[in-house]
Amino acid sequence: MSFDPVDYTSLDVPAAPFSDPARIPHFPEGSVPRHLGVIMDGNGRWAKQRGMERTQGHRAAEPVVFDTIAGAIEAGVRYLSLYTFSTENWKRSPSEVRFLMGFSRDIIHRRVTQMDDWGVRVRWAGRRPRLWKSVIDELEAAMERTRHNTRIDVIFCINYGGRAELADAATDIAREVAAGHIKGSKVTEKMIAQHLYNPDIPDCDLVLRTSGEQRTSNFLPWQAAYAELDFVPELFPDCGRDVLWRAIDDYIHRDRRFGGVDQA
Ligand code: IPE
Ligand code: IPE
Ligand code: MG
Repeated sequence: MSFDPVDYTSLDVPAAPFSDPARIPHFPEGSVPRHLGVIMDGNGRWAKQRGMERTQGHRAAEPVVFDTIAGAIEAGVRYLSLYTFSTENWKRSPSEVRFLMGFSRDIIHRRVTQMDDWGVRVRWAGRRPRLWKSVIDELEAAMERTRHNTRIDVIFCINYGGRAELADAATDIAREVAAGHIKGSKVTEKMIAQHLYNPDIPDCDLVLRTSGEQRTSNFLPWQAAYAELDFVPELFPDCGRDVLWRAIDDYIHRDRRFGGVDQA
């Protein structure tokens, strides 16, 4: 099994992260998705197209993740959920899983100052069991350091699975019922929402998936139940803030009815 060590010197850290204001699209006040989720897909195919190891595609994604965060800040997105590692991704080869764990840990470590400088509040959504302790430690340190930031919440979904989140919520509710704190005869939607990993985070308005796949792969099934979906063909390492802005622009023109009827 080969472990691909991270070469810190080759990483492209955007020196001037924010765009010239003239370049930022003008989105009307209140029109931008408050909570935007991104399924960052296609790293492996990007690498394969270039005859490279899959891990090289993950490496190429790092600057794109931060360009995307910068673009979300510029657009005025308040919550950005990034699907980083799913509960299903453990099925991959041990060497790829090991790379993704180590890489996630290292990215959080080396980017925390940058995120803090940008006003990012780092959050995590996911399950503890199985996730590397060193990843949890870095997440917790980053969450503690950035907890007062209010510009944008960036939620790293690591060892995240929507079904796992709902099963964990159900387990918590069952425990509270058994303890006599709540009545088990009526479990409400509000109770379930209150037992999600981050109950304060509002519903997801827009899910953007890169790489052309048209599925949500267990990402935010509760929070994105009424989200607009946007599937774009670009592989994630070829993306960045322009793809995000295009998706926001597209979203703004959608007609969200939530089961109601448009006023004529
Ligand atoms: C997304 O890219 C990153 C993770 C799921 C961790 P993939 O690794 O899924 O790339 P493809 O879909 O195989 O091209
Ligand atoms: C979804 O991508 C998970 C992440 C982006 C972290 P996958 O590549 O794992 O999903 P499938 O296998 O195409 O559904
Ligand atoms: Mg994939």
